Amino acid sequence: MLNPKCFNFLTLFISLLSLPSPTISQSSSLTNFLHCLHYGSDPIVSQSIYIASNPAFQTILQARIKNRRFLNPETLKPVAIVVPTRIDHVQGTVICAKDNGLQVRIRSGGHDYEGLSYRSNVTFIILDMSNFRSIDIDVKTETAWVQSGATLGELYYHIANKTNMHGFPSGVCPTVGIGGHFSGGGYGNLMRKYGLSVDNILDIIAVDALGNVHDRASMGEDLFWAIRGGGAASFAVVVSYKIKLVRVPNKVTVFRKGFTLEQGPTDLVHKWQQVAPNINEEFFIKVKLEPSFINGNQTVTATFIGFFLGRREKLLPIISKTFPELNLTQQDCHEMRWVETTLFWAGFPIGTPIETLLNRTIWTPLFFKNKSDYVKNVIPKESLNKIWKMTMAMMNRNDINKTRFDLECSPYGGKMNVIPESNTPFPHRKGNLFLIQYAFSWTDEGNNVSFNNIKKLRKLYDGMAPYVSKDPRECFLNYRDLDIGSNRSNETSFDDAKIYGRKYFKDNYTRLTKVKASVDPNNFFKYEQSIPPIK
Ligand SMILES: Cc1cc2nc3c(=O)[nH]c(=O)nc-3n(C[C@H](O)[C@H](O)[C@H](O)COP(=O)(O)OP(=O)(O)OC[C@H]3O[C@@H](n4cnc5c(N)ncnc54)[C@H](O)[C@@H]3O)c2cc1C
Ligand SMILES: *[C@@H]1O[C@H](CO)[C@@H](O)[C@H](O)[C@H]1NC(C)=O
Ligand SMILES: *[C@@H]1O[C@H](CO)[C@@H](O)[C@H](O)[C@H]1NC(C)=O
Ligand SMILES: *[C@@H]1O[C@H](CO)[C@@H](O)[C@H](O)[C@H]1NC(C)=O
Ligand SMILES: *[C@@H]1O[C@H](CO)[C@@H](O)[C@H](O)[C@H]1NC(C)=O
Ligand SMILES: *[C@@H]1O[C@H](CO)[C@@H](O)[C@H](O)[C@H]1NC(C)=O
Ligand SMILES: *[C@@H]1O[C@H](CO)[C@@H](O)[C@H](O)[C@H]1NC(C)=O
Ligand SMILES: *[C@@H]1O[C@H](CO)[C@@H](O)[C@H](O)[C@H]1NC(C)=O
Ligand SMILES: *[C@@H]1O[C@H](CO)[C@@H](O)[C@H](O)[C@H]1NC(C)=O
Ligand SMILES: *[C@@H]1O[C@H](CO)[C@@H](O)[C@H](O)[C@H]1NC(C)=O
Ligand SMILES: *[C@@H]1O[C@H](CO)[C@@H](O)[C@H](O)[C@H]1NC(C)=O
Ligand SMILES: *[C@@H]1O[C@H](CO)[C@@H](O)[C@H](O)[C@H]1NC(C)=O
Repeated sequence: MLNPKCFNFLTLFISLLSLPSPTISQSSSLTNFLHCLHYGSDPIVSQSIYIASNPAFQTILQARIKNRRFLNPETLKPVAIVVPTRIDHVQGTVICAKDNGLQVRIRSGGHDYEGLSYRSNVTFIILDMSNFRSIDIDVKTETAWVQSGATLGELYYHIANKTNMHGFPSGVCPTVGIGGHFSGGGYGNLMRKYGLSVDNILDIIAVDALGNVHDRASMGEDLFWAIRGGGAASFAVVVSYKIKLVRVPNKVTVFRKGFTLEQGPTDLVHKWQQVAPNINEEFFIKVKLEPSFINGNQTVTATFIGFFLGRREKLLPIISKTFPELNLTQQDCHEMRWVETTLFWAGFPIGTPIETLLNRTIWTPLFFKNKSDYVKNVIPKESLNKIWKMTMAMMNRNDINKTRFDLECSPYGGKMNVIPESNTPFPHRKGNLFLIQYAFSWTDEGNNVSFNNIKKLRKLYDGMAPYVSKDPRECFLNYRDLDIGSNRSNETSFDDAKIYGRKYFKDNYTRLTKVKASVDPNNFFKYEQSIPPIK
C-alpha cells in the first residue's frame, strides 16, 4: 500500500477567509511602505505587490500555506505580500519595511511546520521569493546555481534533464522550497553518503538587513557559516545558492517492505537500530512506524524503505548478510534512475513521469503537528514494546479515516559521523543513531480536534523522553516546533532563545548570536524562533 507523504488526493474545500480590517497605525505604516517602494508609480513594482484589497491577495497568500491549521480566520494576515522579480525589489522591500516599522516574513516554499514564513502577531508583510526560481546546472564543473524560490522537485528535474550521473543531497518532498530547506540543514536519502544540503553549498547571494547584496566573499565566512543551517531568516534574505552536485550511479535501487506487530517488528526494529546507522554509506534505510487497524485489531506497522547507490545484485548479498531478518527478495528491489527515486520517496507509484516533480500543487494541506527527536542509544526491546503502546494510543478506532500518525526514523552515520559539529550550525552529527519525526495529521475542522490532538502528541513526546537525547533534548530546525522554547507568542526573550537555540544548534548557538550581533544588531530579521543579537 503506497503511503503518500506529501500530498493526498482529498479535495479539500477551503473557504475564503474573512480579513480583519487594518488598524489606523497598520494602514499608515503600510501607506508609507508602499510609497517608499513607488507603488502606483512604478508598474513593475505595483504588479509585484498584493495588498488586502487586491482580489488576488487571498490566492497568493494561500497558495503556499501547507498546514491547514493556519488556513483559518484567526491566523493574522500580512498587510501586504511582495512577490518581487528583481533583486533591487528585494533590497527595496527590506529598506522600506525597516524604515516603516513593518516586520518581514520571508517565504520560499511555505512548508514551515509552524507557518512562521507567513504568519505573525505583529504588523507584517510577506516577502515571497517564489518568482526567484531559476536553476542553472553546469555539468562540467559539477555545480549549479539555484534560486531560493525554486522547489526541490524542480532542482531534481533540472539536474536529471542534464545528467544521469549527478544528484543532490536534500529532502523528499518535491514541493519544499530551496530557500527554507537549505537554510535549515536539508537532508534526504543521500545524507549518509554526502551529508546534508548545507554540506554541499559553495556560495550564497543574499540581501542583508541594510539592504545590501552580498556573495560569499563580501558577506564573509561568519555569515556564510550562519546561513548554512542556522535558519537564514535570522540573518538575510537568500536569493540563490551555488551548490556542488554529487555523483550517483546510472542505476540505483529502492525497496519498501512492511511488517505488522504480529510479524515481529520489535525484533526487526531492534536490529534496524544497529544495522541502519552502521551499514555502508551507499545505503539509506528508513523505518516508518504507524499505528493501524487490521481486520479491526489494532497493531503497529513497520515499513522499511530502502535506498542503495548501486544495482540490485550488489545490494542483496549485503542485506542478506547484515539484515537477513528483512527477507528481502529480488522482487522487492526496484532499479531506477536516481531522479526517479525522488518520486518513490515522495510516495508516488513507480513509473510516475518525472515531470510530476515540476507540479507545485500536488499537495493539499491537512491539519498537522510534527515534532522531532534524536536517538543516541539503541532502544531495548522492552522499551520498544512500551513505545508501541504509546503509538497505538495516538490512534482512536473511530478516527482511522480522519487522522494519521507515524514515527519516521531516519538513520545517521556514514558521512554524518565524519563532518565536525562546528562546520555548519547544524550540530547533530557523530553519536546519533537516528532522527525521529513524529508526524500527526488530521482532516477534521475545529479547534477542539486540533487542541486535543496536539495535547496527545505532546504527551507521547513526554513519554519518549527516556529514549532520546538529553541536555539538551535536540531538535531538527527544519522540523520547526514552537513547543520547545518561548512561552510568549509575541516576542522572543533571550532566555527563551537560549532554550530553543541549544536544542536546534547545541553550542553553535553562541556563535550564531555573535554573528547576528555583527550583521543585524538591531534585530530587524526577527521571528518567534530567531537568533537574538548577543555580542
Ligand atoms: C511534506 C514535507 C516534507 C519534508 N521533507 C523534508 C526532508 O525530507 N528533509 C528535510 O530536511 N526537511 C524536510 N521538510 C522540512 C522542510 O525542509 C522545511 O519545512 C523547510 O524550512 C521548508 O522550506 P520552505 O522554503 O518550503 O519553507 P518556508 O515556510 O518558505 O520557509 C521556512 C523558513 O525559512 C525561511 N526562509 C524561506 N525562504 C527564505 C529565504 N529566501 N531567505 C531567508 N529565509 C528564508 C522562512 O522565513 C522560514 O523561517 C519537509 C517539509 C514538508 C512540509
Ligand atoms: C509532517 O511530516 C509529514 C511527513 O514528513 C509531512 O508530510 C507533513 O507535511 C509534515 N507537516 C507539516 C506541517 O508540514
Ligand atoms: C499568536 O498568538 C496566538 C495567541 O497568543 C498564538 O496561539 C499563536 O501561536 C501566535 N502566533 C505565532 C505566529 O506565534
Ligand atoms: C529539458 O532539456 C531539453 C533539451 O535538453 C529542453 O528542450 C527542455 O526544455 C528541458 N526541459 C525543461 C523543463 O527545461
Ligand atoms: C483479532 O482479534 C481477535 C480477538 O483477539 C482474534 O480472534 C482474531 O483472530 C484477530 N484477527 C486478526 C485478523 O488477527
Ligand atoms: C522470513 O522468512 C522466514 C522463512 O521463510 C520466516 O520464517 C520468517 O518469519 C520471515 N520473517 C519475517 C519478519 O517475515
Ligand atoms: C498537479 O497535480 C494536481 C494533483 O494531482 C493535479 O490536479 C494538477 O492537474 C497537476 N498540475 C499539472 C500542471 O500537472
Ligand atoms: C473508514 O473508511 C472505510 C472505507 O471507506 C469504511 O469502510 C469504514 O467504515 C470507515 N471507518 C470508520 C471508523 O469511519
Ligand atoms: C471544546 O473546547 C471548549 C474549550 O476550549 C470546551 O468548552 C468545549 O466543551 C469543548 N467541546 C468539546 C466537544 O469537547
Ligand atoms: C514555560 O512555562 C512553563 C510553566 O509555566 C515553565 O515550566 C517553563 O519553564 C516555561 N518555559 C520557558 C521556555 O520559559
Ligand atoms: C506581549 O505579550 C505580553 C503578554 O504575554 C504583553 O504583556 C505584552 O504587552 C505584549 N507585547 C507586545 C509588544 O505586544
Ligand atoms: C558547535 O557546536 C558544537 C556542539 O555543541 C560545539 O562542540 C562547538 O564548539 C560549536 N562550535 C562553535 C564554533 O561554536
